[in-house]
Amino acid sequence: MTLNVSFLKTPRKSTDTAVVLIYEKKELSASAKTLDTKIGGFIKQSLKNHNKFTGKRGETLVLSLPAKAGYNQAVLLGLGAPGKLNALGSEEAGGRLFLALTQAGASNAVVFADGHKRLKLAKEEEIAAHLALGLKLRSYRFDTYKSKSKKPSLKSVGIITKLHAKGSALYKRLDSISEGVFIARDLVNEPPNTLHPEYYAKTLQSELKPLGVEVEVLDEKKMQKLGMGAILAVGMGSDRPPRMVIMRWKGNKSDKTPPVAFVGKGVTFDTGGISLKPGAGMEDMKMDMGGSAAVVGLMKSLALRKSKANVVGIVGLAENMPSARAYRPGDIIKSLSGKTIEVINTDAEGRLVLADCLTYVQQTYKPKMIIDLATLTGAMMVALGHEYCGTFANDDKLWAKLEKASNDTGEKLWRMPLDEAWKKDMESPTADLQNLGRGGRYAGACTAAGFLEHFIEGKTPWAHMDIAGTAWRKSDKPTVPKFGTGFGVRVLDAFVAQNYEKK
Ligand code: BES
Ligand code: MN
Ligand code: ZN
Repeated sequence: MTLNVSFLKTPRKSTDTAVVLIYEKKELSASAKTLDTKIGGFIKQSLKNHNKFTGKRGETLVLSLPAKAGYNQAVLLGLGAPGKLNALGSEEAGGRLFLALTQAGASNAVVFADGHKRLKLAKEEEIAAHLALGLKLRSYRFDTYKSKSKKPSLKSVGIITKLHAKGSALYKRLDSISEGVFIARDLVNEPPNTLHPEYYAKTLQSELKPLGVEVEVLDEKKMQKLGMGAILAVGMGSDRPPRMVIMRWKGNKSDKTPPVAFVGKGVTFDTGGISLKPGAGMEDMKMDMGGSAAVVGLMKSLALRKSKANVVGIVGLAENMPSARAYRPGDIIKSLSGKTIEVINTDAEGRLVLADCLTYVQQTYKPKMIIDLATLTGAMMVALGHEYCGTFANDDKLWAKLEKASNDTGEKLWRMPLDEAWKKDMESPTADLQNLGRGGRYAGACTAAGFLEHFIEGKTPWAHMDIAGTAWRKSDKPTVPKFGTGFGVRVLDAFVAQNYEKK
């Protein structure tokens, strides 16, 4: 059960908590003034006495109200300087508001989302819709496996703005994106004994087909027939054979040009294989399918908001296990591209999975451009931590589009270098390629990208997002609760909307 966030014209009868906006220096919004007048200046008086709450963005203050207010309590939400408030700031405040409402024990709340005449960076309806989005994103819970899970006390939040029509239309679109983010988080949080490749593929069919997404599953026999020796090698040690899933959203039937493509690494659990990882923290490796989850989330949000773009999403699903049948360091395998790869380390498996996906998507769809997402290297996490996703791009125009979408959504990307030297570093003395750079750990994220570059044909614009640090967190952010983040859905949804939709 997710939180019901909706745009209302008047508060529900059962509303127990009213949220009013306060700007910097304790300036009351219009609705705050109206409520204040009704209760004889109680809000102003409380603010005067309070020396901590000043109306900075994201600050909250809970007040118990006198009976004539019509609400049990009010939450004052600070929004800071109106001239500096943008959509992202409003979203963050919405996330913080969710926490305040929960802590105040609210059941049904209403937010009076007034504008301000000095708003400069965003319109009134944008402030309202993004505040609602922030609330929704922060309300995410994963409690499937809690046998005694407590129901959340906060059931509904109604948003009231005088720009009801515009605000609710905008929120409807943002809500579709939040559903995409939620499915991505769910998939990442799902434990690896449940979410193995076969179950994952079935889930995609049952979740996406009803939304009008075409879903095709390649099983191991089909993959063998096609010659996908790289992803098959990764899955060899597991009793759960690999799958490749192709998802198509055809939002513009009259457009006969090639689709845009997104590829995701879906290693449902990464033990490292024969090159076994250390035990401590290994449980986190259930998130090694975070790239695929982002692609799935993107497809879901595109479908829900009926995007007018033609998009193909491909995920490579495999479990990397050590066993008598597992692939070994020293093995030479043949990828779908025909290129042979010497395995130096079975823990560098993601690039093998991606290699066959990249070849398949190019051979089958000749896409306009390709973006892959993968929790590919610990080195990426060492470089940029949890805040930025390192992004490699072979095309400046493509990077510029990604950078814009990133700035607009707050999913931060940082451009990383591709270089001939690293591409060369991945060539093997005995096979065409090897899966580990000669420099070992140095520039590990860059050599991984250099490996992938060998599988990009011709001049196809391509970007690789290494989300090792951003797919999973151990602490909350205002709009992102800890664990699976759903990172990538929002930035890519904006990227598609801004560049590939029929106007
Ligand atoms: N899935 C890991 C990368 C990873 C590490 C993601 C930590 C998220 C958090 C990947 O398959 C891996 O094991 N990479 C190796 C590559 C090395 C063997 C070249 C790594 O980063 O150590
Ligand atoms: Mn690995
Ligand atoms: Zn991995």
